[in-house]
Amino acid sequence: MEPFGIALLGCGTVGTGVAKMLLEHPDRLTARAGRKLELRRIVVDDAKKPRPSGIPSSLFTTNLRAVIDDPAVQVVVEVVGGIDWAKQAVLDLLAAGKHIVTANKALLATHGGEIFDAGRRHGQAIAFEASVGGGIPIIGALCQGLAANQILSLQGILNGTCNYILTCMTENGCSYADMLADAQRKGYAEADPTMDVDGTDSAHKLAILVQIAFGVALPLSAIQRRGIAGIDLLDIRFAKELGYTIKLLAEAWLEPAACGLAPHAKPQSAKCDQLAMHVSPVMLRQNAPLALVRDAYNALFVVGDAVGSTLYYGRGAGQMPTASAVVADLIDMAVGRAQQTFRSLKLWSGNHRNIVVRDPSTMRSRFYLRMMVEDRPGVMADITRILANHQISIASVIQHEALEHADGESEIVPLIIMTHTVPTGSFRAALDEIDRLVSVRPPSVYYPVGD
Ligand code: HSE
Repeated sequence: MEPFGIALLGCGTVGTGVAKMLLEHPDRLTARAGRKLELRRIVVDDAKKPRPSGIPSSLFTTNLRAVIDDPAVQVVVEVVGGIDWAKQAVLDLLAAGKHIVTANKALLATHGGEIFDAGRRHGQAIAFEASVGGGIPIIGALCQGLAANQILSLQGILNGTCNYILTCMTENGCSYADMLADAQRKGYAEADPTMDVDGTDSAHKLAILVQIAFGVALPLSAIQRRGIAGIDLLDIRFAKELGYTIKLLAEAWLEPAACGLAPHAKPQSAKCDQLAMHVSPVMLRQNAPLALVRDAYNALFVVGDAVGSTLYYGRGAGQMPTASAVVADLIDMAVGRAQQTFRSLKLWSGNHRNIVVRDPSTMRSRFYLRMMVEDRPGVMADITRILANHQISIASVIQHEALEHADGESEIVPLIIMTHTVPTGSFRAALDEIDRLVSVRPPSVYYPVGD
């Protein structure tokens, strides 16, 4: 059989991994694909930049036309990242009759509709296993293995960089800045790591999963997101004291109408079409399965109506785990499976269910609240009165004893309150009032609590 011609757009961390795998394991890949996977071109923006040894320099070009005009290139791997250039290149390549394999979650989350329409119009397929969860085959699981189910909920750690940083802050008290630099050195972080730490990368991945699991194409603004940049070691320590650990979670769940379930409770049925979603640091009990996911690993809980709970775990970032997913897509393309899946799933086709996005203020949760307060009479009473006025019930309180000042000045101390389950809107309204008290040094810190 003729070789299957491949080109790469980009030769950064992931592109280099893909090239290495294609060049170093030809026999294994030929056996799995039924024909040779032939790397013909690598498009880069700087032909003079030193490239990893083992990749022949003759493969490099700065000219996308060299790929468009090569009839032997059947599939192009887009691992260049970013949105504008990548989008135009993908549209041009689809129009030129090339299939696409991409790891670009930002591109799919923002322009999935246009790109998938172009693929359908030109009779070309798009595969994107590497876009979510690095090496974990979660896209394949949702598109194929769980195809018989109505997915009820997704709950995952989808950003390796954030999980790596939080793990070291929790276990060793490392500083946020040191660990971010370390994650960048290890090739986990995005070119612009702001996307990792502010929750945008997790939101991109959640938007892709939500499209597959619930058939809904959402503007990114529909996913409320908070990242980890402001997380203080103080809160990590209080979380530990309470038996919790802080993880950045991406969550989406269908809710039965007017049921008032907590976000972390499993929905009982999928009769109603309300979808709740967010990306947020969440306090999880230390023995919860997702709390045990360390370093740059990712994990995702998926609940389906027939299968029940399923859990996927693996390396969510880094060169070879991501290359593993890209090359799996290439094998699927070479044998024709990816084209069939692409045609049958009709993703981003506008042909989706009538699901409404739930107003985030109506989502219900327990909350961890840390206030910095003056240590003097009446402060606790003022705070608990505000909480009571908003129908917020307190589950536990921590205030450590502070030394008394000789001059009678009141010390500023952390006061921690864990609430019972309340609507997010009521909690936020109470928090605004608390932060206006003269005895409180705002902004107070809060996180949803999961189980
Ligand atoms: N920057 C991403 C992460 C890489 O840290 O998870 C994989 O998408």
